Amino acid sequence: MRKPFIAGNWKMNTQSATAVALAAGLARELQAVDQVDVAVCPPFVYLQSVAAALSASSIALGAQDVYFEPNGAFTGEVSVEMLKDCCVNYVIIGHSERRHVIGETDELINKKIAAAIAGGLLPIFCVGELLAEREAGKTNQVVMNQVKKGLAGLCKERVQAVTIAYEPVWAIGTGKTATPAQAQEVHAMIRQLLTEMYGKQIAQSLRIQYGGSAKPSNTAELMAQPDVDGLLVGGASLKVEDFAAMVKTAAKN
Ligand code: PGA
Repeated sequence: MRKPFIAGNWKMNTQSATAVALAAGLARELQAVDQVDVAVCPPFVYLQSVAAALSASSIALGAQDVYFEPNGAFTGEVSVEMLKDCCVNYVIIGHSERRHVIGETDELINKKIAAAIAGGLLPIFCVGELLAEREAGKTNQVVMNQVKKGLAGLCKERVQAVTIAYEPVWAIGTGKTATPAQAQEVHAMIRQLLTEMYGKQIAQSLRIQYGGSAKPSNTAELMAQPDVDGLLVGGASLKVEDFAAMVKTAAKN
């Protein structure tokens, strides 16, 4: 049985006071929820203050990116050790905004995933097709390719640290959610691929989140899909009542 996992991706939003208020509000609202793993991923600069606001709660802290080198002349980058030093457990890697706005490649994403796991972080590894790719009937091909390249070289022991987030790019921040059936179809395909790569036991234990305009009103139907094990939430994670409602809905599923 896979425990549901809901993560909030705050992206480049909040300021020091609002980040702490959001974290404190979630800590208060979600005190009694232990049927779901919950994480929030604030901007790097607020990690420590959010960690303090979450210290008495079971909500985990995640970062939105990491660099694969341990230290040195990499201006602007943040290492695995630095994140761990800030009480971070999870790290989003390969988010579509980093792939398509910043220009990250599958090869770079693969190095980041390997370094994160080697250093003891739990990657939330994002994959997903563009609208043009879906319309051209290439969804499975694109997503399979991203999964294979992102996880290249990872052994069975290491891959167990990974959560995969399927986020169709056309659904992110657009208000256009994939239907539960569309999400399930791709999630099942990813799990089948994981079965071929790592065997049934590991494929059945790995969690696959859906992301892309997930909100309180569509949480129950998405979470009801057999291969949807959680959500990676952008916009709706910025409001205490919305994100808390989604976690509580997932807890009831
Ligand atoms: P959204 O973002 O929920 O605002 O669509 C999801 C994500 O990009 O992780």
